[in-house]
Amino acid sequence: MTALATNLCGLKLRTPFVLASGPLSFDGDALTCAHRAGAGAVVTKTIGARAAVNPVPHIARSSGGLLNAERWSDLSPERWIAREIPRARQAGAVVIASVGLTREDVRELAAALAEAGACALEVVSYDASAVPGMVEEAVRRVSVPVFAKVSANAPGVVETARACLASGASAITAIDSLGPALRFDLASRRPQLGGYGWLSGRPILPIALRVVADIARKTGCPIIGTGGVETASDAVEMLYAGATAVGVCTAPVLRGVSVFADLLRDLSARLASLGFESSSEATGAGLAGLIAASERAEVREGWRFTWSRTPCTQCGVCVRVCPYGARRSAETVAEADCRGCGLCASSCPAAALVLVKEDRP
Ligand SMILES: Cc1cc2nc3c(=O)[nH]c(=O)nc-3n(C[C@H](O)[C@H](O)[C@H](O)COP(=O)(O)O)c2cc1C
Ligand code: SF4
Ligand code: SF4
Repeated sequence: MTALATNLCGLKLRTPFVLASGPLSFDGDALTCAHRAGAGAVVTKTIGARAAVNPVPHIARSSGGLLNAERWSDLSPERWIAREIPRARQAGAVVIASVGLTREDVRELAAALAEAGACALEVVSYDASAVPGMVEEAVRRVSVPVFAKVSANAPGVVETARACLASGASAITAIDSLGPALRFDLASRRPQLGGYGWLSGRPILPIALRVVADIARKTGCPIIGTGGVETASDAVEMLYAGATAVGVCTAPVLRGVSVFADLLRDLSARLASLGFESSSEATGAGLAGLIAASERAEVREGWRFTWSRTPCTQCGVCVRVCPYGARRSAETVAEADCRGCGLCASSCPAAALVLVKEDRP
């Protein structure tokens, strides 16, 4: 089994999984619960200068993930400082206090949150341009590491991350939920949440991976890779993209905090099967391949299919999905019609059909 202990900017995490800020981090007992379930660190619900009031409803199951219009914490900062952070710390949790949403809020709250026991701060805002200034404000006031949370909802996410690092951030958390997004309820003809919402969970994984990889390649900083991780394989991809730790919010909301135990067991076994001795060894392991992929060959030549009889169930999926009518059967393809798109192989549920690049001498 592979070792999962992780060092995040000097914080010693038992495991690389971080409970991301959200509904399951609504108070100190909830943070403790995730800690006991196996989270290596827990991020509080975002603490603002005043308690938020949320619209009803504000979370809906949607598109394989969640759509939410939840604001920041509905508990006051005084309550977090006096009771919730100390409670989670006493229980042994590595607590990261999420603080928002403006520079003024950070000025007012940062020192008190650190004094209450927060092991690090994570600054976050709806306004990307405010985040570097918030980092600056926090760094001036606390000695614990300051993380900056960035979102992919506006262009220039790498530039924002860079500016946050220049302002003193020790790590970047990427990404926040994605939107604005919209779904309708058919019977009422109304938006599911009464208006726009933000998407999280499985549907956003590819975008989160891209953003994490871009930040990793351009800055090399520690990253809490967050967005769409549901399984250990997703977590391995997040590590490959350059994450040091892996944030999860929607998965434990939908499946309960016991998902941490599943993720830990499966991640350790998965990394071992891939030849890694520690999770940190997997950090950034996919980036070299990504650079090579940017010089992608545009010719079909040099690529060939391998098909294995034993795992093939003759389900016919590979033939059905071929957009060009080139795949005649699992084992045969009309070479003249095949564009090499790769969809047949990537759709094979048994991994019987694989598209491989022939090694040239
Ligand atoms: C209902 C809900 C509430 C959230 N509240 C916060 C929040 O208060 N502060 C914050 O920084 N992120 C918040 N997030 C975003 C998550 O921390 C996370 O970045 C995002 O959901 C992507 O991760 P996931 O796909 O694992 O959920 C919230 C997400 C959800 C679903
Ligand atoms: S999709 Fe895979 S398992 Fe199904 S017929 Fe094609 S090769 Fe066989
Ligand atoms: S690679 Fe694309 S075009 Fe070629 S057989 Fe497969 S699905 Fe059809």
